[in-house]
Amino acid sequence: MEIDGTPYRTIWVETPGRSVGIIDQTKLPHRFETVTLASLEDAARAISDMLVRGAPLIGATAAYGMALAASEDPSDAGLARAYDRLYRTRPTAVNLRWALDQMRALLDNRAEGERAALAWARAAEICDEDVEISKAIGRNGLPLIEAIAVTKPAGEPVNILTHCNAGWLATVDWGTATAPIYMAYEKGVPVHVWVDETRPRNQGASLTAWELGRHGVPHTLIADNVGGHLMQHGLVDLCITGTDRTTARGDVCNKIGTYLKALAAEDNGVPFYVALPSTTIDWTVEDGVAEIPIEQRGGEELTRIAGRAADGQVVEVDIAPEGVAVRNDAFDVTPARLVTGLITERGVAEASKEGLAALFER
Ligand code: MRU
Repeated sequence: MEIDGTPYRTIWVETPGRSVGIIDQTKLPHRFETVTLASLEDAARAISDMLVRGAPLIGATAAYGMALAASEDPSDAGLARAYDRLYRTRPTAVNLRWALDQMRALLDNRAEGERAALAWARAAEICDEDVEISKAIGRNGLPLIEAIAVTKPAGEPVNILTHCNAGWLATVDWGTATAPIYMAYEKGVPVHVWVDETRPRNQGASLTAWELGRHGVPHTLIADNVGGHLMQHGLVDLCITGTDRTTARGDVCNKIGTYLKALAAEDNGVPFYVALPSTTIDWTVEDGVAEIPIEQRGGEELTRIAGRAADGQVVEVDIAPEGVAVRNDAFDVTPARLVTGLITERGVAEASKEGLAALFER
């Protein structure tokens, strides 16, 4: 998508066979900085330190991590080490495993001398495929927004609530939840986005608000607890979120707080859609609450906060008593029964085993 008129992707090849570039998302919204990943270790750290994040982009970065590893050490042992190193970076988004398995399947049984070139080509393909998938999600979700738009008084926007960042920054381009929104905006359908701040890391405030603003999409930042209240007052027409892992029966695991929004939407009759590439479907899992590993992150994400001070410097401050006990679950599971539909690259599926099976073959 565009940053002040210049088109960008979130990951790109800098030197073929040697390095890739990424946007350092930990610096947004105050600074736009790009970083070079020149080794397997750089790629693994970029994922675990959340310079890149969001399920599809984690997968794309892992694919390039394997390509970097194949350039460093294309032996069976080298690639097995790379797979393990990358696999351990983050536990919840299943695109990571998907991308690593794609690379492993491609490179196994190939001569060492050809592995690097194959890996770089497949990583590039995975990125291009992700862009096409996001665009298809956008095309399939657009009619949902258009159907609401025709019921609104002239000029009034469709109000869409989203959580975390399931925007183009979370994918290679276009985003998942945001793809239908960007397409509606570009088609001239009036849209307005309620952006949940998304504590504790504030991906809504720092990333979603930033990317919507840079592209020109009208939006308003809200505290995490406001969504239910807005729904009670008729100010939300629909919710669209992303997902890090979707089970075979349509449960969705997404950024912590998504479940509460789905409950509020159910109580207020607001449609709650989840947008996803099929690469986030984990066909091996049915019951998301019981079976999906939930990432536990450091307590400092709750006790410290970063922001820009009056002198322009980015500073971190403590916001909780020193030594306070903290629990920081990064994701939660929204059961399929609370999901109105799953917007995928193949169409909008009912959130059920049958609904997903009708669109995707195992
Ligand atoms: O912890 P993060 O920032 O990687 O979590 C990201 C999300 O929860 C997104 O909403 C999700 O990956 C869907 S992305 C298209």
